[in-house]
Amino acid sequence: HERPGGNPTADIAIIGGSGFYELLEPTHRVEVTTPYGPPSDAVTIGTVDGRAVAFLPRHGATHALPAHRINYRANLWALRSLGVRRILAPCAVGSLRDDLGPGSVVVPDQLVDRTRGRAQTFYDHGAVHVSFADPYCETGRTAVLKAASESGEEVHDGGVMVVVEGPRFSTRAESRWFASAGWSLVNMTGHPEAALARELALCYTSVALVTDYDAGVARGEGVSQHEVFRAFSANVRRLKDLVLRTVRSMEPERECACSTALDGMELPFELP
Ligand code: ADE
Repeated sequence: HERPGGNPTADIAIIGGSGFYELLEPTHRVEVTTPYGPPSDAVTIGTVDGRAVAFLPRHGATHALPAHRINYRANLWALRSLGVRRILAPCAVGSLRDDLGPGSVVVPDQLVDRTRGRAQTFYDHGAVHVSFADPYCETGRTAVLKAASESGEEVHDGGVMVVVEGPRFSTRAESRWFASAGWSLVNMTGHPEAALARELALCYTSVALVTDYDAGVARGEGVSQHEVFRAFSANVRRLKDLVLRTVRSMEPERECACSTALDGMELPFELP
């Protein structure tokens, strides 16, 4: 899995979230440079049944970067430059619904952006407006759901993830407001990651692990950071299994709308 110029390649990547800092025994470790600066960490590449799979810890290997400091553009650019076209993106989320308790796994189908001031586009010149009506890859979502059902893992199909700026958690009023709008999950990293993936015509699938009931649903003190990390580590093995099963089932060829997201548009630069 090597390009003539040197760097190894992989067509699929996992971006690990809080508590998910490694996945496979790496065969390569690549320090990628991008026009946007350095990604969160080196990209490691390992193999699953002979197929190269890239891994990038979203917050850095030691969680040095909180959600609002992550260089999302560098991360997506770096992955695409290694040949990646499909991304599975596990993340920790709070639940806005009574029926989705800690440990639940959800494959969201919609996103609401409540972040502020994050660099959220590659296209500061010209007219490049990608469709984002369906922010997640339908093929990727189906693959996760199928992999889950084949292994008897309960996974919830669909849900709206609202992405807050953080780093603080939400107030009870904010949280109740999100819930009353019909949104299911709250998180801090889902945007602009998904949008930037679409802007590079990458397939992006979010796999959300519920770590807590957010303040509007919680009966007690509201969510704490400790609770999020504890719940994540209690469930990370399941999440990794699900991600690896999904990887095994995914074809390299793409037929989804993500792959043609930029067709017919005049791009200000060449894609990596
Ligand atoms: N990530 C995990 N739990 C969260 C919550 N309750 N709010 C925002 N981001 C989260």
